[in-house]
Amino acid sequence: MAEIKKILVVFGTRPEAIKMCPLTNLLKKEKKFKVVVCVTGQHKEMLKQVLDIFSIVPDYDLEIMKNSQSLCDISKNILDSFEPVLKKEMPDLVLVHGDTSTAFAASLCCYYNHISVGHVEAGLRTFDIYSPFPEEFNRHAISIISLLNFAPTDVAMNNLLRENVNKSTIYVTGNTVFDALEFTSTIPSNNKELYEWLGNDRLVLLTAHRRENIGLDMENMFEAIKEIVVSNKNVKVIYPVHLNPAVRSLARKHLLHERIKLVEPLNVVDFHDLMRRSYVILTDSGGIQEEACALRKPVLVMRGTTERPEGIAANVLKLVGTKKEDIVCFTNKLINNSSLYQSMANGSMPFGLPGASKKIIEIIKSDLK
Ligand code: UD1
Ligand code: UDP
Repeated sequence: MAEIKKILVVFGTRPEAIKMCPLTNLLKKEKKFKVVVCVTGQHKEMLKQVLDIFSIVPDYDLEIMKNSQSLCDISKNILDSFEPVLKKEMPDLVLVHGDTSTAFAASLCCYYNHISVGHVEAGLRTFDIYSPFPEEFNRHAISIISLLNFAPTDVAMNNLLRENVNKSTIYVTGNTVFDALEFTSTIPSNNKELYEWLGNDRLVLLTAHRRENIGLDMENMFEAIKEIVVSNKNVKVIYPVHLNPAVRSLARKHLLHERIKLVEPLNVVDFHDLMRRSYVILTDSGGIQEEACALRKPVLVMRGTTERPEGIAANVLKLVGTKKEDIVCFTNKLINNSSLYQSMANGSMPFGLPGASKKIIEIIKSDLK
């Protein structure tokens, strides 16, 4: 009889959870594997929202989150609390996701303990170590450690090859976010009140949370949003505000307007439904860029760089930066120029289709034979 292999899945923030839960639930169906789930609790409420939707109860919760935590806090607390879990479980493989401090610190801990790491969503790069900060460093560092690299696209694979990552460790799998999107589309949303408030107006959906944007850049972004609603009477903005206290205080200060609604972070079912209902999405998020492309929603990325150039090439995504006049100008163009809008809304779908979780599992099965 084939030996059962132990796979430890570790994640800690909302976006990692959204992209790892579909994979985790599918892995759990495999008789060949014993699956152990460890959440670091880098996020608390925003993580729980995702775990609840996907009905995942972690085996370990390291509960490391503190208010206004520093990057050193996160890494130090994960190194301290994840090592005992690793030593107790001694997994055959640890799966991490993306570029968060959870993924970086957990991978480092595995390396120190000679435990293999598989990296889901490997190979994304902006080539600017400070943008996004610290994610660009985190994903580079994980690529040095990881023995299985699940690249979502050919672009990501080529980034890894250019860094001399061993070709035999790289697999192009697509992105598990589309498995999440497929799953959430089967659950009814609970946005009735928001849709009543919206009426027939056009929805600009806003998210903003990046560490490097907090301060002047975020103030510019928010002032731009205010100007957009002032100059377009048929536009309303909904912003599910991230729980970071620094972001919340800027949002409360700059986004006071009757056609701007600040709401608490939405669960992922409601958020995906709101994306479908939106006219355009303004964001500094990473994952929302992929989801918006899949839903054919023009997305304006309020950052100087993106690790998802496939979306720009497909003409669904536009990098507008963080200057107020650029954000206002391009959003107004999209609102008032229907051929420009249609050209973005009908762009191609560059990030693949659902099915990445299944592909990743087949690769792990053959690797752990
Ligand atoms: C983290 C990730 C970032 C990702 C983002 C997704 C790192 C370094 N950053 O950034 O890559 O894009 O998550 O949202 O890994 N908070 C709560 N409750 C929560 C979550 C956050 O109160 O459920 C507050 C806490 O005060 C916390 C702060 O938000 O200290 C910041 O959280 P943190 O994980 O440090 O940074 P994010 O900006 O969320
Ligand atoms: N999201 C959510 N609720 C919200 C806002 C976002 O569930 O109120 C989801 C969104 O669909 C995407 C993910 O959170 O899957 C993106 O997370 P975030 O922007 O926080 O992080 P990033 O992707 O930038 O790392």
